Amino acid sequence: MLNLKVEELQNQATPFYAYDLTVLHQTLEAARHEAGKYNFHVHYALKANANAPVLDAMRSAGFGADCVSGNEVKRAIENGFPAHHVVFAGVGKSDAEINYALEQDIFCFNCESSHELEVLNELASAQNKTARIALRINPNVNANTHKYITTGLEENKFGINAWELESVLELLQKLPAIQLIGIHFHIGSQITDLSVFSNLCTRVNEFQDWFEARKIVLEHINVGGGLGVDYYNPDQNLVPDFAAYFGLFNQFLKLRPGQQVHFELGRALVAQCGTLVSKVLYIKKGISTNFAILDAGMTELIRPALYQSYHKIENLSSNLPEERYDVVGPICESSDCFGKALMLPETNRGDLIAIRTAGAYGEVMASGYNLREKAEVIYY
Ligand code: LLP
Repeated sequence: MLNLKVEELQNQATPFYAYDLTVLHQTLEAARHEAGKYNFHVHYALKANANAPVLDAMRSAGFGADCVSGNEVKRAIENGFPAHHVVFAGVGKSDAEINYALEQDIFCFNCESSHELEVLNELASAQNKTARIALRINPNVNANTHKYITTGLEENKFGINAWELESVLELLQKLPAIQLIGIHFHIGSQITDLSVFSNLCTRVNEFQDWFEARKIVLEHINVGGGLGVDYYNPDQNLVPDFAAYFGLFNQFLKLRPGQQVHFELGRALVAQCGTLVSKVLYIKKGISTNFAILDAGMTELIRPALYQSYHKIENLSSNLPEERYDVVGPICESSDCFGKALMLPETNRGDLIAIRTAGAYGEVMASGYNLREKAEVIYY
């Protein structure tokens, strides 16, 4: 059950994000323990949630930082992540972002195209530095997830396709300020069918053989993130099954001696610790259901509008008999809807509504559309 005490929240301005630090620590401890069994390294994907207390917890768990913008690199470094635990990924890094990351001497750039390699070489040479890189390879593995969060198919913009690799290696010979240290994969997010990851391992093993045949030694293999969480039963599955996840990679990856395995988990580490709490403004009769109109909308949590994703909704204030509701926000868009035809206890103006599993890709994806204020944040 959600550990929030409604009586203590009456004076709290709504909507707000509430983060349960106990759940966060339990989750990180489980991940640390299971990854530690195989000496796997986790870089936390800051894009999921970059709040300072979350980053503090990640650092204390011994995780590095996986960043996708110059500002994320900056946030990680300012939060105290050592530069040699920072990775910079992304298909469109700007010159200013690259220069900043070079100045900081980060551990590795995950590079996604020949053109990017050429620019990185130029910028690193100008700083008299060598940039350590991993090649992000598009393995053409289907993640069986929502098409907007599928990244490892050839039709996606991400990574270098297998048929380009030979020419990329030729190019690397001509780029003295670049040192190839690893290969990187990320096939998508919210992956709940673990067999997808064993397919990934099979492809990674094939690529390893390919590099080995060309006498290239890779210090690390980065298999990305993507482990999904249970949006339907958050209480039963607060902590994802890290044992199965890391165990699978241990079972299927064929590593070379001394090689490290890196992961970039985001959602699985932070989704369940966060809840968006909102107040009911109005109840309005619809044709077949009532509308419960909240003071939070797609500006605070865009996932339902953008990916039709499910978030469990609970009324924290009522235990009256259930009725059917469409739970919607105040924004001037029909997609501003958190759930349709949901059975909730009879809901009234002023009730507090919890939208669960909102710790990942919630607050960070908020927008100011309709000139909305940013939601407040509490930690408990
Ligand atoms: N590494 C790379 C290269 C990524 O692109 C991502 C996520 C991750 C790691 C972390 O993936 P995770 O472990 O969190 O699945 N906004 C969407 C999710 C977008 C994910 C983008 N990339 C959502 O709300 O579902």
